[in-house]
Amino acid sequence: MIVGFPGYWLPAEIAGKIGAEEVRVTERSFPDGELYIRLVDYDKIPLRDVILVSTFFPEQDRKIWKTLLILDAIRNNNPKRIIAVRPYLAYSRQDRIFLPGEPVSACVVVKILRNLGVNILLTVDVHSNRVLECFGDGGYNIMVSDILVEHAMKYVDNPIIIAPDKGALDRVSHAARLLSLEHDYLVKQRDRITGEVTYMPRETCVKNRDVVIVDDIISTGGTIAEASKILTKQGARKIVVVAAHGLLAENAINKLESANVNRVILADTLLSRYDHSMLEYVDISGRIVRELSRFI
Ligand code: R5P
Repeated sequence: MIVGFPGYWLPAEIAGKIGAEEVRVTERSFPDGELYIRLVDYDKIPLRDVILVSTFFPEQDRKIWKTLLILDAIRNNNPKRIIAVRPYLAYSRQDRIFLPGEPVSACVVVKILRNLGVNILLTVDVHSNRVLECFGDGGYNIMVSDILVEHAMKYVDNPIIIAPDKGALDRVSHAARLLSLEHDYLVKQRDRITGEVTYMPRETCVKNRDVVIVDDIISTGGTIAEASKILTKQGARKIVVVAAHGLLAENAINKLESANVNRVILADTLLSRYDHSMLEYVDISGRIVRELSRFI
């Protein structure tokens, strides 16, 4: 049994691949802006496994709220288990307290999902495992960096793959191991007040090599732009970037273009897509279905 956001293509795709029935959801906004949702086929739910497929971008806060209302409606109809597939988990970067007085927003999001009855949570290239630790037993992350790097291979020759910071090392080594590629990392520092990114000096062997930079999220493009500039200075020939979640806020695309990035390959994890000659989207629904099949 699949329940999905109205207008989101992934639930129907998953339902088709695993042969599950879909439960329709209608939604509308009240004149004052509040949200109304209703499960149209609620009578299909009792005592069945329900897979709720939704993603949290754009309009993260509204999407999270919509998910919570749908979850409550599912729970009120007595499901056997609730499996939440969340390709993009908003707030995942605030996964700890960086400055005194901050919340751990990532934990708030997953704990609400848990408290509203989610038994299994599947994320795609989640920012860090700390987020799933907050969810507790039943939280799993699906790595797609290998799919994205494999896709990038047609643009590069004998590349080295690079993590733009130590936090990205897991997803880089995952792809490097599966595709037998060399990998390395850069040492990034972010000013916690201004958000500005700087890199510490660190020699890599990118001279005269094509480079694939692998990250989880591109938001303002600051991280990738600075990484690309450093690698170009160190002699990199061509820079291709792959990332699971292309939020592309502000003027991220221009920033990447002027930092010598040749191509950006993104997983199709959001509800919006940008149209630009430098961008390419990769369908990762096959990998989600494969992981989901372990639980159903
Ligand atoms: C940070 O640790 C993340 O993995 C991304 O590198 C970061 O969120 C990208 O943000 P921006 O594009 O704004 O630099």
